[in-house]
Amino acid sequence: MTSGATARAVGGGLLRSRRVCVIPPERPIIVTVDGPAGTGKSSVSRELAHRLGLDFLDTGAMYRAATAIMLDKGLTISQPDPLVATVMSADLHFDWTQDPPVILAWEQPIDHRIRDADVTEHVSPVSAIRELREHMVIKQRIIGHQHPRLVTEGRDQGSVVFPNAEVKFFLWATPGVRARRRAEQLRASGVQGVDEARLREEIEVRDRSDSTRAVGPLVCPQDAIRIDTSDLSFDEVVTALESAVRTRVLGS
Ligand code: DC
Repeated sequence: MTSGATARAVGGGLLRSRRVCVIPPERPIIVTVDGPAGTGKSSVSRELAHRLGLDFLDTGAMYRAATAIMLDKGLTISQPDPLVATVMSADLHFDWTQDPPVILAWEQPIDHRIRDADVTEHVSPVSAIRELREHMVIKQRIIGHQHPRLVTEGRDQGSVVFPNAEVKFFLWATPGVRARRRAEQLRASGVQGVDEARLREEIEVRDRSDSTRAVGPLVCPQDAIRIDTSDLSFDEVVTALESAVRTRVLGS
């Protein structure tokens, strides 16, 4: 058996044990998962990390935290220097005792703020600021050093941050499928009058902006395994990634 959460009753309670680990416990391994929004990257990467017994890094959370800081401190992207200086002073890092790890700014959790609509609206241009990206790349490499058994997801993890990662994935889905998934998520969370066509336009705009920026653009690294998730279930995607890692690492 390579995976599968196991749960057993202990003293009347239910103890959820960690999934069976296919990577030897002392072996360092960096797995990168890049791709556009709406491909299920975050949840897939997190589940993959669980199944393999690795740590999980959500680098989008770091750009979102920088954007929340900009908005909450009354800064704008037209003032990149104070913005980058303020983000540096926040010393963004994660509390790894939580699952998923919680992002902290000035030692305070900021995770409750980073998925708000205004943050989502502004994050793409913020993430195109060269000096900010340089700062984030350094931070992410330090995290990779401190957590050498890592699944890290974002846009530039395999292309820029960890070019020597052992296994690289690039997840893809058509803009129509991604808009439908997002619409379903919003409806499920109680949002009324979801406009799927508009969501699709926003996705296409964000893709263009993320793929054409000068620094760390969204690209599929040459040595990445590209997976089109359009017609796959969540479990099928995770299982495909898991078995690709196992084959690369263990040769079976
Ligand atoms: O994955 P996400 O939606 O949380 O990412 C938010 C934004 O951050 C998205 O517009 C792209 C950007 N991002 C980036 O430029 N580089 C990364 N490594 C991760 C995210």
